[in-house]
Amino acid sequence: MTTSGNRILMCPPDHFSVEYVINPWMAGNEDALDIDRARHQWNRLRETVARYAEIVIIDPHPDLPDMVFTANAGVVYGNKAIASHFMPKERRAEEPIFKQWFRDNGFELLKLDEKIGFEGAGDCLLDRTGQWLWTGYGFRTEIEAHAEIQEFFDIEVVSIRLTDARFYHIDTCFCPLTDGFLMYHPPAFDYESRLAIETRVPPHKRIIVDTMDAGNFACNAINIGDRVILHRASEALKARLMLAGFEVVEVRLTEFLKAGGSAKCLSLKLDEPVWPK
Ligand code: ARG
Repeated sequence: MTTSGNRILMCPPDHFSVEYVINPWMAGNEDALDIDRARHQWNRLRETVARYAEIVIIDPHPDLPDMVFTANAGVVYGNKAIASHFMPKERRAEEPIFKQWFRDNGFELLKLDEKIGFEGAGDCLLDRTGQWLWTGYGFRTEIEAHAEIQEFFDIEVVSIRLTDARFYHIDTCFCPLTDGFLMYHPPAFDYESRLAIETRVPPHKRIIVDTMDAGNFACNAINIGDRVILHRASEALKARLMLAGFEVVEVRLTEFLKAGGSAKCLSLKLDEPVWPK
């Protein structure tokens, strides 16, 4: 598999910790991290992803324990990017750093209205057939951001309402896969959003993830070609993915689950192609 045109942004966990609680997974995990294990797990993830993509590193910052979750830096589409404006104040100091990074790396940035919450690729996922952006709202991104995203990127935004606080970013419960497949956990969405999903993704392309797998962050996967890199999946889910032509690569990420994130949250795709209309 070629790695060209496939860059992924990651941030080493040198200063990773659980110091505050901004999602339900973090509660009770303050001081529960094994930082050596976190480093080891992150390195294994980096090595695994590096087989299929080129890794780009952004330097960590001593005061920003969640900066390791680069999916929340912003979202990229072609040479444009929208940097995040975090809902929890605890992560707002990451914003200028990521903005600067996008500018230094040649992305045209949207000036998103500062009053609007938006948490980047954590809540904004390109359908892998390139037709639209699945965009979450309800916890960490506000629906007011959706129109701005659609206009700036000039691509349809499909608004998906998240209803379960454990699945507070769309990338925790929803993962578009190559050739229009979709791995997702239906109870995390409201009725209208499930309908929006079902009208766009035909039944044979929907891969339903149960509560157990969703709790193991199976939907928080990095998909590159036919590989699906994730923390853990049940044999049943692996078999279902295999039938659809995918191969699962497991990398243990227990320490990051304690902060409410897993493989996908630890990565940001930098080469999202603009598809011809
Ligand atoms: N502790 C981080 C937060 O609550 C985890 C972020 C996970 N990122 C993601 N893309 N789901 O913001």
